[in-house]
Amino acid sequence: MKKIVVLSGAGISAESGISTFRDSNGLWENHRIEDVATPEGWEANPELVLEFYNQRRKQLFEVEPNEGHKALVKLEDFYDVQIVTQNVDDLHERAGSSNILHLHGELKKVRSTIDYNLVYDLSHWELKSGDKCEKGSQLRPHIVWFGEAVPSIVLAEEHVRKADVLIIVGTSLNVYPAAGLVDVIKEGTKVYIVDPADVPTNGVENITVIKAGAGEGLAELVNELTSSK
Ligand code: APR
Repeated sequence: MKKIVVLSGAGISAESGISTFRDSNGLWENHRIEDVATPEGWEANPELVLEFYNQRRKQLFEVEPNEGHKALVKLEDFYDVQIVTQNVDDLHERAGSSNILHLHGELKKVRSTIDYNLVYDLSHWELKSGDKCEKGSQLRPHIVWFGEAVPSIVLAEEHVRKADVLIIVGTSLNVYPAAGLVDVIKEGTKVYIVDPADVPTNGVENITVIKAGAGEGLAELVNELTSSK
């Protein structure tokens, strides 16, 4: 079975009603990234950060996977599919994809502030000041903030190295190390980009650009990749 790796970003969830990061005014839901998505922001004002992610988490209970997420599930009938997502939402999971690697963490998980390995599922939307891990430290969102390590990148690179097809959807490829994944493809890997805007591809060969939103663009691409099967 041929292997397809899908590198997804905020744009795949845009049609579900979740905002992307860099499309408008440089703010994320009216907050400066430094205030809500850095260790320094957490240090300075943990209440603000908890509330910010509580609102993002709450929104997750109100949105649904869209046609883009669903189209990717159909690929599994014909290919070995690995999703590598920068998104912290759970819309790939809820659409039904089987193999999902989150590079930047998951909104529905929280973790200890003293032991990185103590990660917990949060079944409701609210993480409060005073909610503690089993070792007694405050819990924080299980999110990779700017300036923090991205442990899953090692596994992501292993998948991308083996890919016969790489689909890049809904990411501006602005943030490393995720953006560098395109550089580790093997010779001959076919790359597709699905995005309504131009995405920098920095000399990567063998690229087909589908300039469309995720719903329409992925439906078209999945149809093409499965109809010859
Ligand atoms: N369908 C597909 N793509 C879309 C759509 C759509 N309907 N609408 C917008 N896009 C595209 C934009 O054109 C852009 O290229 O989605 C991309 C979104 O880019 P960013 O907002 O930069 O999001 P992303 O690349 O996922 O950001 C990476 O940055 O803030 C951090 O950790 C955060 O994971 C995030 C990372």
